[in-house]
Amino acid sequence: MDITKKLNDILVSLFNSVLKMEEDAIKNSSRHNLSITEVHTLAAIGAGKAKTMTQVATNLKISVSTLTTAINKLVDKKYVNRFRVPEDRRIVKIELTEEGIEAVREHEEFHCSMISDVLAELNGEEQGILLQSLDNLHDFFKRQRIKAIKGDAPAKLAPLSLGDVTIPIPIFQGGMGIGVSLSRLSAAVAKCGGVGVISAAQIGFHEPDFYTNPKEANIRALKRNIREAKEAIKDVPNKGLIGVNIMCASRNYDEFVKAAVEAGVDMIISGAGLPTALPGIVKNSKVKIVPIVSSARATALIIKSWTKKYNRVPDAILFEGPLAGGHLGFKEEQLEDAQEHFYETIMEIKEEIEDLQDCPLIVAGGIYTKEDVQKVLAYGADAVQLGTRFVTTEECDIHPNFKQVYLDAKEEDMVVIKSPVGMPGRAIRTPFIDRVENGRIPPEKCNRCLTPCKAEEAPYCITQALINAARGDTEHGLVFSGSNAYRATKIETVKDIFRELTS
Ligand SMILES: Cc1cc2nc3c(=O)[nH]c(=O)nc-3n(C[C@H](O)[C@H](O)[C@H](O)COP(=O)(O)O)c2cc1C
Repeated sequence: MDITKKLNDILVSLFNSVLKMEEDAIKNSSRHNLSITEVHTLAAIGAGKAKTMTQVATNLKISVSTLTTAINKLVDKKYVNRFRVPEDRRIVKIELTEEGIEAVREHEEFHCSMISDVLAELNGEEQGILLQSLDNLHDFFKRQRIKAIKGDAPAKLAPLSLGDVTIPIPIFQGGMGIGVSLSRLSAAVAKCGGVGVISAAQIGFHEPDFYTNPKEANIRALKRNIREAKEAIKDVPNKGLIGVNIMCASRNYDEFVKAAVEAGVDMIISGAGLPTALPGIVKNSKVKIVPIVSSARATALIIKSWTKKYNRVPDAILFEGPLAGGHLGFKEEQLEDAQEHFYETIMEIKEEIEDLQDCPLIVAGGIYTKEDVQKVLAYGADAVQLGTRFVTTEECDIHPNFKQVYLDAKEEDMVVIKSPVGMPGRAIRTPFIDRVENGRIPPEKCNRCLTPCKAEEAPYCITQALINAARGDTEHGLVFSGSNAYRATKIETVKDIFRELTS
C-alpha cells in the first residue's frame, strides 16, 4: 500500500476513533447528561475563576451569541452559574457549579487514562519518537492555516510596503531604553535597509538638567537623536526608516510623540499599554504609527478603538512575545502559556488583520538566528524585530560594560524580575538583582517618570537602576535583555547581522 494512502487512512481513522471513544465515555457516564460540545464548553470555562462570555467565546473561537445559546442550556441543566458582578452590574460572568467541575474532572480523567494506555504500550524511545512526530505533524497543520492567508510563496524577508513607503529589508531593531538604542545604532540599521528604532525612554539622562528639568532634557535629547540619525542616512541609497519607541506609560507621552514628529521621525512604535490616543496626537502628519500588542484580542481592541475614534487603522502591528527583553506585556503567571502558544498567537493576529490593507505584522521576542526569522515568517509574520541581537554590536550606543554583561552571561543568568511599573521584565542577573531580591532599595529621588510607578511602594527605582547600567555601573544597574542574551559570543557589526539573516 502506498504510504500516502496509508497515512491518510490512519489519520482519518485515528481522529474518528478518538471522537467515538470520547462520545462513548460521555454517554456512558452514569452521572452526566451532556453532549461532547457541552463538555468542551465546560472545559473552556474551567474550574478556576469566573470568566466573561467574551473570554470563553474567544477561547472556543465561536461568537458570543452562539455561546449564549449553549450557556442557557448549561445553566438550565445546573452545570453553570451566571451572575452579574456586584462591583459593576453591567458585567455578566459565568462559572462552573460543583456539578460542572465534576463533569470537567471526569472528562480530564478520560483523556489522561486514554494517553496513559497508549504510552503503556511503548518503551521510552518509542514514546520520544511518537512525541516528536506528532509535534511535527501538529506544527505542519498549524502552518497550513496560515498558508490560506499568505499563499504558497516561500517564507522570506521581502520588501515591506507601508502605504506610501517601502522598507527594503523588513528587519526592525527594537527600541531599547535606557540609552541602548540611540542615533548611532538606529542609523546603522536604517543604512542596511531596515528600521532603526531610537528608544525615547529617559533619553535625556546625559543632559546636564536631567534631574532638574527631565521633560525638557528628554525632549531635547529625543529631537537631537532623531535628527542625527536622519542626517546620517540622508544620502544612503535603499535606506530604511528611523523610528522611535515611546512607551504609553511615560509621563508626558503626548509631548514626546509631538516632539518626535517635529524632528521628522518616520515611525512611532508604542507599547507598555495600548496607545489608544496615538492617532489623535499625530493627526495631520505622515508619520507611521505602530502599536505593540501581546494578543489577537489586544489587536482587535486597538483596531476597533482607532477606527471608531479616528477612522484610522495601524500602519503595522508589532506582536512582542514573552521571550523579549525589557518590560513584557504579560503577567508573570501568563509567561509560560504565552510562550507555548507563541506561534499560534502569530497566526491569530495575522487572521485578525488580514482584511486590512497594508497592515503588515512584525513579530518580536526571542528571534536571534536566520532559522528563528524563517520560522516566524512561516507562521505569518511579514517582518521581524530583534532587540537582544543588536546589543552586542559595535554600533550599539550603550556602554561597553553593558555589552560585556551580555558576553559573559550564561543561560542560567537569564531572569524575569518584577518591575515597579507592575509588569514583569526580562534581564540578566547582576549583583543589583541579588540585592533587590534581598530587600527594598528605597528610591533616593523621584521625578515620577512612569505613570504606573508609585515611589512610596516601589521596591527600587527602575529608572535609576537602568541609568546606572547605561553609565557602565553594572554592579548597581539593571541590565535588560531578551532570553537569548547568553548566545552572544562576540561583538559584531550591524552589517554582519543583516548579512547573516538575509543570506
Ligand atoms: C536592553 C533592552 C531594552 C529594551 N527597552 C525597551 C523599551 O524601552 N521599550 C520597549 O517597548 N521595548 C523595549 N525592549 C524590547 C525591544 O524593543 C524588543 O522588542 C525585544 O527586545 C525583542 O526581543 P529580543 O530581545 O528577544 O530580540 C528592550 C529590550 C532590550 C533587550
